Amino acid sequence: SEVEKTEAEAELGGYPHYMLKEIFDQPEAIRNAMRGRLDLEEATAKLGGLNMNPHQLLRIQRIVIVGCGTARHAGIVGEYLIESLAHLPVEVDYASEFRYRNAPLDGETVVFAVSQSGETADTLAAVREAKRKGMRVLGICNQVGSTIARETEGGVYMHAGPEIGVAATKSFTSQVLVFLLLAVLLGRLRYLSARQGKKLIEAIEKLPDQVTSVLSRHKEIRAIAEKYADAEAMLFLGRQFQYGIALEGALKMKEITYIRAEGHPAAELKHGVIALVDERIPSIFLCPQDGVYDKNVSNIAEVKARRGPVIAIASEGDDRIGKLADDVFLIPQCSELLAPILTVVPLQLLAYYTALSLGRDIDKPRNLAKSVTVE
Ligand code: AGP
Repeated sequence: SEVEKTEAEAELGGYPHYMLKEIFDQPEAIRNAMRGRLDLEEATAKLGGLNMNPHQLLRIQRIVIVGCGTARHAGIVGEYLIESLAHLPVEVDYASEFRYRNAPLDGETVVFAVSQSGETADTLAAVREAKRKGMRVLGICNQVGSTIARETEGGVYMHAGPEIGVAATKSFTSQVLVFLLLAVLLGRLRYLSARQGKKLIEAIEKLPDQVTSVLSRHKEIRAIAEKYADAEAMLFLGRQFQYGIALEGALKMKEITYIRAEGHPAAELKHGVIALVDERIPSIFLCPQDGVYDKNVSNIAEVKARRGPVIAIASEGDDRIGKLADDVFLIPQCSELLAPILTVVPLQLLAYYTALSLGRDIDKPRNLAKSVTVE
């Protein structure tokens, strides 16, 4: 009806699509995810919803993260964050695989179920299976009071606000932020000094403004998207903290543009993926300043040697990358731990503007539903 139409337009706040609105919601969404959870005095994060005291948190020996699609990709970034800050072993699995595995788990393992909707059937089934095995299961959900939020012993709400576009965007950055907080909290109980904790918290507080600055340069991404919109396929490559972002960039691209897109750890190129490279298949490299920057640079050279176009997402101040890549988008300088929240934004925009120039139905891509409540 007319009334419904006007209401929908009001919710869109002037944006042509929910996906674009939700991409631009991200500075606010991550601000909400950190609100009240940073403790500069104690140089740690506070996550009361976990319902675990410091003694119980210290006894955790292993973490298993389960989710589907985008939620699992956030879990992969979480794995690297928790391992590097808290030195705890982390395993990430597809919720749908985990539920049918007979994974040996013990009482010191904590399972995190990640789900924007909190209603995904596969994730819910994984929650129930882990509980049946006597595991402590915690949720990282957006929808307050959703089934997964209710069936877990505790957890962390994302507070991203409603996400309507089928392609998840702001829920992803909020999930990564929650994992960052969790890694700081678990790290401060173990290896992280007060000085390091404080430095990280100060850097986390800067993130919303840094995301805003990335968004303000959306036109640069639009131009890149238009240049490559007729690509036959695309490769998304990243390592370590950027590996999950490579997977997420590829998922966004295929979901809303229907272009074949694959995400891989960049070093896997030489183990097979590079066979795909030619002048019609661009490679998007995630190569901010981090511990594997030089390795990424040699992978870029390998792709260029095979006439593959390269789009690089790098850090401000990088004066090498412009000579190697065909197109470059620079993110603000930040710690490698925080970079995933900044590098994913240009990839969301790249998928969006590519879909726009191909005339796709962005908020309702074919064959997909926002929340998959069947197995
Ligand atoms: C993301 O763009 C997808 N639409 C999809 O992979 C989604 O992330 C997945 O179905 C999980 O949904 P959930 O977070 O609501 O559990």
